[in-house]
Amino acid sequence: MELDSLQSMYVDQLKDLYSAENQILKALPRMIKAASHKELKKAFTTHERQTRGHVARLDRVFKELGATPRGKKCEGIEGIIREGAELIREKPEPDVLDAGLLSAAQHVEHYEMAGYGTVRTWAQKMGFDRQAELLQQTLDEEKQTDQLLTQIAEQSINIDAMSGDQEMASPADRARPVRVHREPSGRRPAGRSEMGMESRSEGSAGTGS
Ligand SMILES: [Fe+2]
Repeated sequence: MELDSLQSMYVDQLKDLYSAENQILKALPRMIKAASHKELKKAFTTHERQTRGHVARLDRVFKELGATPRGKKCEGIEGIIREGAELIREKPEPDVLDAGLLSAAQHVEHYEMAGYGTVRTWAQKMGFDRQAELLQQTLDEEKQTDQLLTQIAEQSINIDAMSGDQEMASPADRARPVRVHREPSGRRPAGRSEMGMESRSEGSAGTGS
């Protein structure tokens, strides 16, 4: 019984991923068109090709299970894609748009990585070794894409976007996680950097090992 219920949850999650992949396939051409940075356009184009392969792998998994991939809409990915579409409609400055598109794409990748990691593990537990292998291959490609996007963010995109930001002109200010707070008199508050330290230590206090 337990196996039966895990298997139905497994199929449900696979359907969620199938819907996610197809929504991503529809959204990527818009993202490729909206991106300005050459490397980002290239990364999206490569991922569009990979995504077709992800759908094909899921088709193979469903075929092996004798189940249909249809019948579920992935609302998580729908929300992330909607946010990306809203950003494109707002028409921000190109470098800023690129940074936002990159962020949307990394949100998508992490969503998919969580989903594929889960179904891969369940496939292994249920003895569906070939399916686990296929799902692992897709998981590896999602991770590679995420790493590539991080590289692009570090090497160019975010720096290009920041250079237009007058409020964060100095490198010291760029490094600070908190916004510059101005006193009514225009003086810089003495405790500004301590506020940043406090919020960091609060954030890490509960993380444990
Ligand atoms: Fe994918």
